[in-house]
Amino acid sequence: MTRRVAILISGGGSNMETLVKSMTGDHPARPVLVLSNTPDAGGLAKARALHVPTSVVDHRPFGKDRVAFEAELLKVLKTAKPDIICLAGFMRILSPEFMQHWSGQMLNIHPSLLPKYKGLHTHARAIAAGDSEHGCTVHVVTPELDDGPILGQAKLRIQPDDTAQTLAARVLPLEHALYPKVLRRFAAGDPTPVTLEQ
Ligand code: GRF
Repeated sequence: MTRRVAILISGGGSNMETLVKSMTGDHPARPVLVLSNTPDAGGLAKARALHVPTSVVDHRPFGKDRVAFEAELLKVLKTAKPDIICLAGFMRILSPEFMQHWSGQMLNIHPSLLPKYKGLHTHARAIAAGDSEHGCTVHVVTPELDDGPILGQAKLRIQPDDTAQTLAARVLPLEHALYPKVLRRFAAGDPTPVTLEQ
């Protein structure tokens, strides 16, 4: 049975675009919705250009009322009936109650070699710590932020002259290589972790 994938974004959507473009031919999944919490997310136009239905649930009118925001998210998602949810640069923290609806079926990409550098500013923190390697991770989403089972990692060497900006620019293509590979295996029910080294 073809798995149905919804992708949640907040910004440019480059990861979303690589996921959508990968779900063709004998891929075990198909994209059914791209959902953004920001109306001006650049990724919405990219999704429309790829003929994937889009929707916006703007978090701002809900202020601090996360329950109401998530209730609206849920309503929109339920119409698309996704089996799998991919967070791709989605910058809102979801509640454990929300995650329950897709327990074990929600993936996220994070720009560090988890469990190192959960949260924000991962590139600057890796450089500040004097690390020799860095990269990105795709993991199952659990109530603990950036903490769920790891499904894949891609690594690169930090260069002496790297800045947070140059490192981010070198990690993003790794994300684009890793996330589609992990999704294909996950959608096929293959638990083998993906490891990429640059
Ligand atoms: C990526 O670096 C991702 O790891 C992080 O946010 C960025 C989103 O990029 N969470 P895009 O919107 O997929 O281009």
